[in-house]
Amino acid sequence: MRIALGSDHGGFLLKEEIKKYLEKKGIEYKDFGTNSTDSCDYPDIALPAAQAVASGQFDRGILICGTGIGIGIAANKVPGIRAALCHDTFSARASREHNNANILTMGERVIGRGLALDIVDVWLNTEFAGGRHQRRVEKIHQIENK
Ligand code: RB5
Repeated sequence: MRIALGSDHGGFLLKEEIKKYLEKKGIEYKDFGTNSTDSCDYPDIALPAAQAVASGQFDRGILICGTGIGIGIAANKVPGIRAALCHDTFSARASREHNNANILTMGERVIGRGLALDIVDVWLNTEFAGGRHQRRVEKIHQIENK
């Protein structure tokens, strides 16, 4: 699995922790920035990372900002992206099983490192359930064409 990873300054430190986790697990990733805690604009990170997932270049993405909200809103503007903000493992699992979320977003200012890494673990290891959920996901993408 190849992961597109990114954050703004508000999520930089958590992104670095996630990098260490992915390396430990032997999971391939590309870091789309940012590269420090200097202030930057989360849409500038979200767009290339989300496009890389939507194009199929990467299987999934993980995007971090202060809250996980702004970077997720921006990512969801890219057709084909289903970015889910998850701050608990139940939502992380459901976002994969039910919504086939292809980007996980989290807020560094909201949760701690331990929970964040558990969420990443659950999210990366849960498959889409398909069935009735497939129909619903397709209906989401029909909205993109309206
Ligand atoms: C940056 O201060 C902060 O607004 C950003 O990281 C994010 O939380 C926005 O949704």
